[in-house]
Amino acid sequence: MNPTPAVLDRVAALPADALPAYLYDLDALRRHAAAVRAALPERVELYYAAKANSEAPVLAALRDTVDGYEVSSGGELAHLRATVPGAPLAFGGPGRTAAETALALRPGVHRWHLESEQELYRLAELLAATPEAEVDVLLRVNLPVASGALDSVALAMGGRPTPFGLDPERAEACVRLLAEPRFRQLRLRGVHAHLASGLDAPEHLAVAGQVVTWAVDLARRHRFELAEVNVGGGMAVDYADPAARFDWPAFGAGLAQLLAPHPGLRLRIEPGRALTAYCGWYATEVLDVKHSHGEDFAVLRGGTHHLRTPATRGHDQPFALLPVAAWPHPWPRPFARTGRATLAGQLCTPKDVLARDAPAPGLRAADRVLFQLAGAYAWNISHHDFLMHPRPGFHYLSGLNPWVDPPVPPAHPPAG
Ligand SMILES: Cc1ncc(COP(=O)(O)O)c(C=O)c1O
Repeated sequence: MNPTPAVLDRVAALPADALPAYLYDLDALRRHAAAVRAALPERVELYYAAKANSEAPVLAALRDTVDGYEVSSGGELAHLRATVPGAPLAFGGPGRTAAETALALRPGVHRWHLESEQELYRLAELLAATPEAEVDVLLRVNLPVASGALDSVALAMGGRPTPFGLDPERAEACVRLLAEPRFRQLRLRGVHAHLASGLDAPEHLAVAGQVVTWAVDLARRHRFELAEVNVGGGMAVDYADPAARFDWPAFGAGLAQLLAPHPGLRLRIEPGRALTAYCGWYATEVLDVKHSHGEDFAVLRGGTHHLRTPATRGHDQPFALLPVAAWPHPWPRPFARTGRATLAGQLCTPKDVLARDAPAPGLRAADRVLFQLAGAYAWNISHHDFLMHPRPGFHYLSGLNPWVDPPVPPAHPPAG
């Protein structure tokens, strides 16, 4: 979204050598999450997929709004237990080690998303040593959804061959095993499906409907009580239109319709990107402007080693230009001649591009650039150490809870 006043003020106050910097508006995050929550009907739980952004202030800011958090590794589990103590956690992930399986018994692990038959045996072996312990499981299923439903999405984790979850017949096999006395410490609560990222509300509802229908039928055939269905995350964020939003009111109304015929059922969703993308900005400055074979290139402080998302998803990261009047040097100020520019980073690779051939009227060296939608899958999925540039600063802005530059030490401080 457009930079908030708190973010603009902070960027203006930062000296150039404090850039690049990530800025999070935690109050904007809280407002957005509250609006999402308000759009959801009763019997729908909201979990936040911590992998989208697991920085402590972000997790803490969501604590009052979400019902729990989805984690996908032992590392995330430990981090969340320390950061949001007592919060319910749903623990998934396609490949868990024996040590990670042992975490199933930790307090806070509310649901275990069972991804394979081997996990079932491993969990049962672990539990055999603690006869009074029980673990609530959801079967993560990779359903073949009706043709076309996932054709346009950015990232598909299901509906096709993938390493995620169980094929329907393997899920059936697990249901049969779970009915055996030797697996009685594993309580089958229902089904989980996260099939894709980048779904708009009608697409997501179409997929969720198929998941619920399949789960209800599975429970009827195997005569177990279906308590809940987790229909995953994957709500779209439109990087080409930063003002656009996933239609949460329509989604909430659609979920209510899905639930209506099933009075005993609860649904759960676990969005990541669509909760936190909007509250983060990556701010930097233009180091140089080069005219190359007819095109303008703005070379920025920082780059895809801090914000890898546009390179991996193949989009242009939306940005706002913040002109800086002062030019303190005696030599001419480099500027973009064409009114457009490719915004590149400092890495020695042509892939280090944050936005390609974008409108950039009046762009000059020393101007600032504020990349939007940088609150999810941004810093935490980037290859920070390539070329050993300094790490960005981190600013968590909030009228309620002023976090300032918490513990991300500069791994590679600038020379000198
Ligand atoms: C199991 C699971 N749940 C939720 C999410 C969150 O997806 P998104 O950030 O697209 O909402 C992911 C993302 O990969 C996931 O793998």
